[in-house]
Amino acid sequence: MSIERTFAMLKPGIVQRRLVGEVLSRIEKKGFRIVALKFLMIPTELAESHYGEHRAKAFYPDLIRYITSGPVVAMVLQGEAAIPALRRLCGATKVEDALPGTIRGDLAMHTDMNIIHASDSEASAGREIGLFFGPGEIYDWKDGNDAWI
Ligand code: PPS
Repeated sequence: MSIERTFAMLKPGIVQRRLVGEVLSRIEKKGFRIVALKFLMIPTELAESHYGEHRAKAFYPDLIRYITSGPVVAMVLQGEAAIPALRRLCGATKVEDALPGTIRGDLAMHTDMNIIHASDSEASAGREIGLFFGPGEIYDWKDGNDAWI
């Protein structure tokens, strides 16, 4: 398996509910390496670029309103097959399908207040990382735990 980078975002509800530490802790304990991390209010244009593929969907206005309603925590995570691994840790997007033990299965009751975003493919990860982070904001630090995780 190859080392991948993926993009993740803890949405405004997670900040409001004081669950940032809980979710970051799950991500770190799994073994992902945080190589970039940012706390920000997403400008509407950035939200529209990020969710451009959903523009035609009925929930799109709600999605943009929610994601720009308060600060988010954006990050780049690195690890072996990081893209599918993070999607598994998050659980299904529809909360009724998200299994216990996953972030969404344990911490969310409403899909429209989805608590975490995770890239769904290599192409999305590359695009989303580029939207939120410049190359100088990503640090490929040496991980002394590599052999243990
Ligand atoms: S789809 O239709 O299958 O492509 O959509 P899906 O992948 O399930 O969801 C895409 C993102 O939209 C969010 N979503 C919603 N937001 C607001 N209201 C409603 N009803 C709603 N339904 C889905 C969903 O959480 C996904 O957000 P991200 O950030 O990509 O996880």
